[in-house]
Amino acid sequence: MTSIDTAAEQIVVTPPYARPRRLRRTPALRALVREQQVRIDGLVQPLFVLPGRGVHEEISSMPGIFRYSTDTVVEEVRRLAALGLRSVLLFGIPDRKDEIASSNYDPNGVVQRAAEAIKRALPEVTVIADLCNCEYTSHGHCGILKGETVDNDATLALLARVALTYARAGVDVVAPSDMMDGRVRVLRENLDAHAFEDVTIMAYSAKFASAFYGPFRDAAESAPSFGDRRSYQMDPANRREALREAALDVDEGADIIMVKPGLPYLDVLRELRDAFELPLAVYNVSGEYSMLKAAAQHGWIDEERAIDETLLAFARAGADVTITYFAAEYAARARKR
Ligand code: PBG
Repeated sequence: MTSIDTAAEQIVVTPPYARPRRLRRTPALRALVREQQVRIDGLVQPLFVLPGRGVHEEISSMPGIFRYSTDTVVEEVRRLAALGLRSVLLFGIPDRKDEIASSNYDPNGVVQRAAEAIKRALPEVTVIADLCNCEYTSHGHCGILKGETVDNDATLALLARVALTYARAGVDVVAPSDMMDGRVRVLRENLDAHAFEDVTIMAYSAKFASAFYGPFRDAAESAPSFGDRRSYQMDPANRREALREAALDVDEGADIIMVKPGLPYLDVLRELRDAFELPLAVYNVSGEYSMLKAAAQHGWIDEERAIDETLLAFARAGADVTITYFAAEYAARARKR
């Protein structure tokens, strides 16, 4: 036993038997015992597409993220593929909105055209299409309204119709983000009935009604014109309900389940990892991106380290797939390391 005299009193120090610091002594030792790493193959870059040509406009609330037209998006995906990224998630910003989101099932719609162009130029890239109606409705809600509420079952038919047009355009994965009950089953049934049994369903299973979608709604022009999304997206307080939502989606035939947003819901992510065998995705949403960017721009945070730590947190919590606006930046940096 070692003891040291201080001026004030005698302090006793029992030397520890276990010394975890032994494994932290050198970079090589730390690397040797590192438990997790971010897989570039598991990253998905979200992309915003709109009609027109030659568009490349930065989204003011999301520095470094752009809106593309169907021609420029192909060039962007080519750049992403060269960085080693293999999957993208498309969001459409149509030029025409109505009560029933009809521009969403237009075979010449913005997502359909972008998907076709990407698959033609880069067939090896996985094209995921977010499946929702809020960008396409005049009222900004995620489905068909009955009075002031979203009519669940009428919206199911709409989602199925849209999904078929995405499948015909060559989309590999449809990702319903609307939170209507029973959508996964209806999508699976309709895709199968039209010989699209290989089109994958990535379900936004536990999607919470979150303040962190703020910048996205600005980027996608999809803010609701009245009310909010609390009658269909989940209450942030609910963990057990997330398990139930995921169980329903698994039962209905989802191939991949998802938790969204990411950082505020890491506990839910871990919970779903432990409860289900399916591949698990997390969505590191726009607000999470913009907060970090803003702090970095002020010099208040080390951006690269904060990104690394964030993406590692998702891997550690159990995500196989991470949808993040940082994907391109991360992949570009990983190549240099
Ligand atoms: C569509 C949708 C949203 C997001 C993904 N799909 C917006 C919303 O639910 O309001 C958010 C993505 C992000 O914030 O990055 N419903």
